[in-house]
Amino acid sequence: MQLLHSLFAFLLLLPTLASAAVFPADSKVKMLDPKGFKRAMRANRTAVVAFVAPWCGHCQRMAPEYSKAADKLSPLIPLYAVDCDEQANKGLCAEQGIQGFPTVKAWPRGGQSPPETYNSGERTAGPITRWAGRAVPDKVKDIKKTDDVNKWAQDNIDLPRALLINKDQKPPLLWRVLGNNYRKRIAVAHHRDADDETAKALGLESDKATKVVIYQPGSTEPTLYDGATKYEALAKHFKAIVEKAKEEKAERAKDEL
Ligand SMILES: *[C@@H]1O[C@H](CO)[C@@H](O)[C@H](O)[C@H]1NC(C)=O
Repeated sequence: MQLLHSLFAFLLLLPTLASAAVFPADSKVKMLDPKGFKRAMRANRTAVVAFVAPWCGHCQRMAPEYSKAADKLSPLIPLYAVDCDEQANKGLCAEQGIQGFPTVKAWPRGGQSPPETYNSGERTAGPITRWAGRAVPDKVKDIKKTDDVNKWAQDNIDLPRALLINKDQKPPLLWRVLGNNYRKRIAVAHHRDADDETAKALGLESDKATKVVIYQPGSTEPTLYDGATKYEALAKHFKAIVEKAKEEKAERAKDEL
């Protein structure tokens, strides 16, 4: 009976031993092959990649912490991993100059800019999360004074514009990520409106402390966005704004012919 029990336990363990996955199945960390890596780079957004090997003890210790960081940063910054032990990935890991495991790199703007390597020592969730947040290039214009909101709207009149108004000194990571992802397509700004002066001046009636204000290309008329101030909803809205702006530009070009 004892023997049967042990045998059963061993058989249960077998699949995990065979695949030797570094990250748990329910982890938000997505494993990449060379094709997936290329796709992630083409997205032009901040992405983090851990290069690992299943036999590496430091990788196994980092995995739950890296997964925690992925939970915290999802969906703003994707955290990926590449198993450099896999034959198909060896070329990619060599190309990236990986010499030790784990090596964690952040690409601030996908393939558009060179990566930064994590070397702050501790491979725990907090430091990795903060480092990944800092890797997002800051493309958000910080508008200090109420009067400067109209100036900014005027200065960027050819583009769609998105302004986040709240009570905080600094824009949230969500806003910096959107500013980076939509760089050159939407002008993105943040303004601290501690006493609601600016909301009044712009004629924005809202009891929400956090307001997203949109300006269409060519217009200095602010409109309040009324969807959720969450990444997916905003990214969808931003995408629609960019597409509309593109269509209108094409229309104008046709009219001018
Ligand atoms: C990424 O940037 C390149 C170069 O500017 C551009 O051609 C490509 O369309 C961009 N990809 C996305 C998903 O925006």
